[in-house]
Formats: sequence, structure tokens, C-alpha cells
Amino acid sequence: MPYKVLILVCGIIGYTGNKKASKVVLKGLMTLEYRGYDSAGIVTLDPKIRIQKNVGKINQIDFDMEKLPGNVGIGHTRWATHGGVTKENCHPHISNNGKIAVVHNGIIENYQELRTFLEAKGFVFNTQTDTEVIPNLIEMYMKENDFLDAVKKSIKMLEGSYALAIVCEGLEKVIAVRKDSPLVVGVGDEEFFVASDVPAFIEHTKKVIYLHENDLVIINKKLKIFNLKEDREVERPVHNIDWDMEQAKKGNFEHFMLKEIAEQTESIKKSLRNNTKEIERVSWMINDARKVYLIGCGSSYHACLSASYKFSSLAKKHLDVVLASEFSNYRDLIEQDSLVIAVSQSGETADILEAVKSAKEKGAKVVSIVNVTGSSLTRESDELLMMNSGPEISVLSTKTYTSQLVVLTLLAYATAGRYDEGKAKIKDLINYVYYITSANARDYIRKLSEKIKDSEHIYLIGRGLQYPTALEAALKIKEVSYIHAEGFAGGELKHGAIAMIEKGTPCIVFTSDLTEKEMVGNASELKARGAYIIGIGPRNNDLFDFFIKVMQADEANSICQIIPIQILAYQLALLRGCDPDRPRNLAKSVTVK
Ligand code: G6P
Repeated sequence: MPYKVLILVCGIIGYTGNKKASKVVLKGLMTLEYRGYDSAGIVTLDPKIRIQKNVGKINQIDFDMEKLPGNVGIGHTRWATHGGVTKENCHPHISNNGKIAVVHNGIIENYQELRTFLEAKGFVFNTQTDTEVIPNLIEMYMKENDFLDAVKKSIKMLEGSYALAIVCEGLEKVIAVRKDSPLVVGVGDEEFFVASDVPAFIEHTKKVIYLHENDLVIINKKLKIFNLKEDREVERPVHNIDWDMEQAKKGNFEHFMLKEIAEQTESIKKSLRNNTKEIERVSWMINDARKVYLIGCGSSYHACLSASYKFSSLAKKHLDVVLASEFSNYRDLIEQDSLVIAVSQSGETADILEAVKSAKEKGAKVVSIVNVTGSSLTRESDELLMMNSGPEISVLSTKTYTSQLVVLTLLAYATAGRYDEGKAKIKDLINYVYYITSANARDYIRKLSEKIKDSEHIYLIGRGLQYPTALEAALKIKEVSYIHAEGFAGGELKHGAIAMIEKGTPCIVFTSDLTEKEMVGNASELKARGAYIIGIGPRNNDLFDFFIKVMQADEANSICQIIPIQILAYQLALLRGCDPDRPRNLAKSVTVK
């Protein structure tokens, strides 16, 4: 009985043009590696199908480019949670007759039925993946149809989510199709690309088409797009990307994570330049709505939680913060005058897309705060606020987290009718962000990293706005260094977690002008149990064994207080021999539930 190999995210690419396809595809896969890095593979047509695939990170796989000739190719970088990370399970997957190759991002939910159906027709399966049914379905339909019709018929059989790139031996074209998984088209000079994300081809072209749900595209010498639901050929606008390859490269930095941390002076400035008019319009929507929900996952959820404190203190508004994956539990409460604010870096997270769709079905309005232009969430929204952080490649959210905070803080100020004040407050931070991300500040934080690198646990506490910061800080540390880290509200510590404190346990205590007294009280409770206290805030205290001074920025505190921990998490990862850009078991955008 085959078992399901759950593929959460992957990167795919397809190319047709005059260049050597394998080279284009391989380079593209390298930029997509953040989407998955346990195995990779390439197929080119010359016009016979040529395939190379293996387990490992892309730069560890020895692709023999001589054996991958031709100007048409597809490629895949994979990330699986369980099931075999084996050569057989790597994409591309090939049909029984060896003529059709498919790369797939997503999951085919009815693959077992399809497999049984195909087995009854004599097809043999060589892998444990859900994807292998697709090339075989196409082979079956090609007995009586041409390639395009066979693909269309096969797609009709699929349930689940997919971005696919497909080639057929002897035909100089790539067919690609998407449903609930991202796929963009690059329009070059006599060449075309399809990929999960823009960096895969930005070095060749900045002209991009964002495919819609159920779009199918054929690329060869020309480009044709069909919408399978509408059952007709469609036109989609071509957009120009306003960032370049340099921004998607590491530059002088050893890792994307550090580059993106250091970039925050710029990304915060860019997020500040955001659409004043739109922010104002959204603030009216918030004031008009009977109920407002803020939803997100992971770091985006923490940004929502942080924002709820700001809406409360500035605009005297209570916004309900809900994990996108839990939102269905509130479905019955959603009404036509509800407003859902969906926060997502990628705009492709399956949990958030599903939550938004269900809110829309109930007639609610949707506002999205997104970084990736043209992503699925951008099309599901009544209003859109772009984060403008530029591409974030490292799996961990750093600059995009602070950009989310910038947009949400501006929105809270705007809802209180104090937009200009909010903008000025964040502008004041910029010099400070420059300082805290500088090499000097990083060297200072390294002393702390050295001290606590062998710890088993790290606890983090904060009150008010510093509570979501403690949660996000804990997430950063555990995601990348694998040290167990947990964030608490300062007042909650004595209700359980204090039992874990032993001599030398590192405890990070976030303070602010507002919470200093109580936080110092909590710090002394910890100190009395032998904890090693790390203070982060505007003022030092005798209780602190290590202190990182962070300016007092009131409602904007959350933006500057997280940065030292991003740096700490990065350094802990390095000191513990972990790869900061490729944390184990994690993926940047999780496109299935
Ligand atoms: C993944 C990433 C997290 C991210 C979360 C939400 O789990 O590893 O870093 O915060 O998804 O992603 P989104 O793109 O919706 O903000």
C-alpha cells in the first residue's frame, strides 16, 4: 500500500528559448532553493527526454550538464516532511512510456484513487509520490488526444493543489498550470519561463505575468494562456518588476538571513513609503466594520498580535487576532459587516487563503497586507497594502516581519486619525535600526551568543507590546538554532514556566518605559532562581547580567526590539553549526494545509 509523501512546498521552473535549458533551469532552481532543499531534478528535451535527479541540496548534486542538452527544460527543488527522500521520489516524474515528464508543487489529494484507476489499466508505479499519477494520466489520454487536450483532461481528474510544468518528448514546448499553488510567467526576448517565484528568472527578464487560478499556459516560440474554468483563451497583463537580481543575491553577506536583517533600514523606509491613500481607506473600513479580525500564521500572526495592542492603545479598538489555521472555528460569527485583515509575506500560505475564501463567502470584506506582488492573496482582497520589503529569500522572516509591523502600526495610527504622527515616529527609528544592525552591534551581540550557545532552554518575557515580541523572538531562536525557546507574558511566568528555571537558564526580559517596573519585578523572581538575565530595553538594571540597549519608541517599540534577537538567533545558528538559510523541516511558504 503506497503511503502519502506530503510535499508542503517545492520550487518549479520551466524554460523554452534559445539558451541551453539545463543551465537556465539549474540557476533558477538555486534561487528557488528556499522553497525546498532535500532533493532536485531536471529534465530537458533534445528532443528525447533527458533526466538527472538526486537527493541533496542543489549545489551538492552533481548534475552532468553534458547529458542535459536542448533548449526546453523543466526543474524541481523538493521539500518533503515524511516519506522517502529518495532518488525515485525526486521530481521530475516520468510516465510509463518514458515520454512525459512532470514537476509539481502542491499535493494531489485523490492520488490513491487515480493510482488504483491507472493500475487497473496496466500502469506501473515506481515512486511513493502523489505526483506520479499525472504523467501517467497524460500518457493515457494521449492515446486519443493531442498533448494539450490530454493535459486538460488529466487536470480535470485532479483534486488538490498544484503548480505543474509538463513536457512531452518530441514537442518543443512546456505546458504549465496552477491551482492553489503559485506560478508566474517570465516574458523574455524570444524566450519564456514559468516558475514558482520571480527570482528564478529575474536575471533574464523583468517582465512578469502573474497567472490566475486555473490558468494553463503553453510556452514555446509564443505564449498562450487558457483559463480552464472559463474554458477559453485569456489575456493577462504583463508587469514590470522594480527590483533586480542584486536584491535577490547575497552580496557580501555569508547568508541571506544576515543580509535581510541588515537590510532593514532600507526595507522599513520602503514600507513607510506605502500608499497613504490606501492606508487611509483601510482605516475607514476598520472604523466602519462591526467586527475586525486580524489573521496570519507564524511570524505574520505575531505581527497581528502586536498590532492588536496598538489598535487598542491608539485607536481604542479591539481587533480579534486569530491564527489563520483556526479561523474556521469563528466562521459562524462572520457577517457582511465584518472585516478580515489577512497578513502574509508570501500571499500563498494555504491556511490564510482558505480563511479568506471562507470569510468572503460570508460576505465579509478582506484587506490583505502582503509582500509578494501578484500572489494569490492579492487577488482575493478588496483592499491591498503592499509591504514593499523586496524579495526575502531566507526561510526565516526578518525584514518582512518588521515591514508588517510598519504597515500595521501606520494603520493603527491612521485609524486613530494620527497618521502623520505614526509616520514620523517610525521615521525616527531609521537611524537606530541602522545602528542596531551594524557590524559593531552584531559584534556586541555575539558576546551574548557565545555565552548562551550551549543552553538547552531560553525563556523570553515581555508585557503589553513586548509580549508578542517575546513570542516572535522565541520563534526566531528555535527555528534556526534548535534551542528550545519559549515566550511568555511577564505575569504568566509564575503560573507555570518558572518551574523550569535553573541555575544559569538564560531569560530574556524585554522592558519599556511603560512596563519597566513590573518587568524588573519578574526579572528578580527569575534571578532568585538562578537565571542568567538578559535585559532588552531603554535602561540597564543591576539585575541584568547582559544588557542590550534599545531606544524607547512607544508603539514602534516592537519594530526595534526584535532586531537584536534576529541577530542573536542567526549567531546561535552559526555557533551551533546550523545553516541559517535552510532550517531543518521548515519552508518559507506553506502552500498546502
Ligand atoms: C512559514 C514560514 C514562516 C512564516 C509563515 C507564514 O511557516 O516558515 O516564517 O511566518 O509560514 O508565512 P506568510 O508568507 O503567510 O507570512
